[in-house]
Amino acid sequence: MTTTPLLEAREVTKRFGAVEALRGASFQIFPGEVVALMGDNGAGKSTLIKTICGVNSPDGGEVRFEGRSIAGWHPKAVQALGIETVYQDLALAPDLDTPANLFLGRERLKPGILGALGVLAKKSMRAEASQVLKDLSVKIKDETAPISNLSGGQQQSVAVARAVSWADKLVIMDEPTAALGVPQTQAVLALIDRVRDSGRSVVLISHSLPDVMQVADRIEVLRLGRRVAQLVTRETNEEQIVGAMTGAWTQEVAA
Ligand SMILES: Nc1ncnc2c1ncn2[C@@H]1O[C@H](COP(=O)(O)OP(=O)(O)O)[C@@H](O)[C@H]1O
Ligand SMILES: [Mg+2]
Repeated sequence: MTTTPLLEAREVTKRFGAVEALRGASFQIFPGEVVALMGDNGAGKSTLIKTICGVNSPDGGEVRFEGRSIAGWHPKAVQALGIETVYQDLALAPDLDTPANLFLGRERLKPGILGALGVLAKKSMRAEASQVLKDLSVKIKDETAPISNLSGGQQQSVAVARAVSWADKLVIMDEPTAALGVPQTQAVLALIDRVRDSGRSVVLISHSLPDVMQVADRIEVLRLGRRVAQLVTRETNEEQIVGAMTGAWTQEVAA
């Protein structure tokens, strides 16, 4: 394992009014790793990843990417580092179709004067979107339908495909299989394996122990806004993970 983490959060604090969502939370992921971030509802998982992505700015602590401090950066600047996030609320544009959602915020313009006038290269984006979905083995019933007409599972697949296709270094997924049935969940887990095979890293927030045991190399557990355990998947078991999540088991060296 390399000594410099790809991404590291150290002692991050974040408060929303009276709520202390993060009380010195730490997190680490190395290149090529799949790390599951686990914890009970309200443990601070979503807040931590939003703080990493620049959606929230931390009140204190450090966030480093490839050794460089990125705390408080704008989300677009964080994305430009090669980090893509699937948020729990998916952040899709409901009235737009699948290709438009895959290119959301990165729309391609037609060449020449039309492009200069802001005309979108819809045909080329549609063709590329179809290819991306095909490459990722994501099947969408009707790519031309407004995304709000698709099922929750299909929408989640589009959000995952968008992140995986744009991320150069790190994909962060906040409960990506929450709305999925068994076959679709297996498709997302297979996609996560392929992201790792390509040398990129994945942070997976999930409540599903079987999913986590299947796909994660390591598990970091948050409890009440702090990291309480760092576990290697093949050296732990479900009882220990649940124990860390509930506080019934504590790891001696948790930071
Ligand atoms: N924007 C917000 N405003 C107020 N409180 C928030 C906000 N976001 C999160 N919280 C609170 O912070 C705590 C951690 O939430 P969250 O990070 O969503 O937990 P998790 O994702 O682990 O379930 C919860 O008590 C939640 O209610
Ligand atoms: Mg959450």
